[in-house]
Amino acid sequence: MDIITLPSPTNVLRVAASLLSSIVERHRSDKRRAPPAVDLHPTFGFIPAEPLPSLPSNFQAWEDALAQAPDALCLGEDKSRKALGLLTAGAEWRERMRSLRVLDTTFLETDVRLQQRAHLVLAWLVHFYARSIPRASDDKTPILIPQSLSIPLVRISNLLGIAPVLCFSDTVLWNWEKVDPSLPFSPDNMRSRHLFSGTEDERGFYMASARTELAGVELLEIIENFRTLPNRTDTASLLKVSKDLVRLSTVIENMNDAIQSVRNSCQPHTFYWRVRPWYKGSDADGPDGPSWLYEGVPDSHLLPLSGPSAGQSTVMHALDIFLDVDHKLEKRRQPVPSPGNKKAEHGFMHRMRTYMSRPHREYLELLDTMPLTARDLALKHTPLREPFDNAVKGLQKLRDLHMRIAVLYILSMSKTTPPDQDPVEDCDQERITAARRGPVRGTGGNEVSLLLKAGRDATKRTLINKHH
Ligand code: HEM
Repeated sequence: MDIITLPSPTNVLRVAASLLSSIVERHRSDKRRAPPAVDLHPTFGFIPAEPLPSLPSNFQAWEDALAQAPDALCLGEDKSRKALGLLTAGAEWRERMRSLRVLDTTFLETDVRLQQRAHLVLAWLVHFYARSIPRASDDKTPILIPQSLSIPLVRISNLLGIAPVLCFSDTVLWNWEKVDPSLPFSPDNMRSRHLFSGTEDERGFYMASARTELAGVELLEIIENFRTLPNRTDTASLLKVSKDLVRLSTVIENMNDAIQSVRNSCQPHTFYWRVRPWYKGSDADGPDGPSWLYEGVPDSHLLPLSGPSAGQSTVMHALDIFLDVDHKLEKRRQPVPSPGNKKAEHGFMHRMRTYMSRPHREYLELLDTMPLTARDLALKHTPLREPFDNAVKGLQKLRDLHMRIAVLYILSMSKTTPPDQDPVEDCDQERITAARRGPVRGTGGNEVSLLLKAGRDATKRTLINKHH
């Protein structure tokens, strides 16, 4: 593979793109699979270089339904006057979804960008459908997703190699348009195209994730420099690794700042009550919650249907592999995992790979096969230990501060009352009680604080010298 190792920012993704194109090449020769997109851009990384086109006219019914959804639907648990006024419009919209024909997706099989758009549209429709149904909070009967949505979504997801549910790609990577279409693509000229709540807070949340993604692009070059080092013992190579580790600390700081920028662009209360409930997937309410069944899809209870999380961003996974963060608790490291750490889902990060499209997951699988991680090398060569540990400490700080965001936006907000949308008597009481029942759960029904603490502590255990 042709790898250019100049450390210039413009070179960043030429390097990783060449890596991805080799993965893509493999797929081209595999006729059973649709050719995946080379969706790595020299500046925008895993975000595609141009906004996705809308679907062609034979799929207009899907595009129309998505365009109408925000005006016709409110969250099923929302008992505000506005929501009650929309009950009929919502029921009609869902009835239209049930009476739609199952469209043939063969036409989309040769165009990855259209497949990505189809995934986005159908996954948004599925969440609009499932989460707008008015249900009692203790209703455990499964939610039936109509076959007009479920069958094409599963087909398209198989082509893309991604879970048939709303994923990080659908809310962030693929969900953007140019602010001014006449201007070239730049981070300042992009904004989220679809919103559940119609609030700028929701847009701010997606854009903070997109900024983090962009800030992390430089990581891929650093990792690629490392992965393709011809020699890992000579002084020049070790010096190069050392410099890249120093650079990595700055990249992690930039990512940290990007995550923290969510505080300026998204109100915790709006996020918790008006945005986040739309994301809940089939397992969001824990093992006893109502699951989703995909009509017309055999064994649909086995499908991965957790819903979106920034834990599905490939960039953070690549960083964890490079530094050798042991989320699965497979390695003997100090300090030993706490009882809480042991209770958390150790396979969460790995499971989140199912929610990435196939080329991104395969990129990670390729990194998994590196014979040596940065940690292994730093263990062998003492001068690398300090810059390595500094990078790990940066990531530990990022996870610490991210946890504070989760506390502010989720745990604290779970104790508040829903927004004052002309509440009708105290009918929101049921919603509040339901929200407070049991532990606060994140994607896949995990207890949020256990999971995030386990990730932070796994990062801490990656440090070589625990005492400085
Ligand atoms: C309002 C802001 C945010 C909240 C409330 C939040 C909350 C959470 C929660 C609860 C999880 C646990 C897994 C899950 O349930 O999905 C999680 C995981 C994660 N979040 Fe966030 N998050 C926020 C913003 C961000 C942003 C802007 C990023 C940057 C892309 C980010 C990156 C991650 C990553 C990488 C994980 C996987 C776990 C880890 O790597 O430690 N989060 N987040």
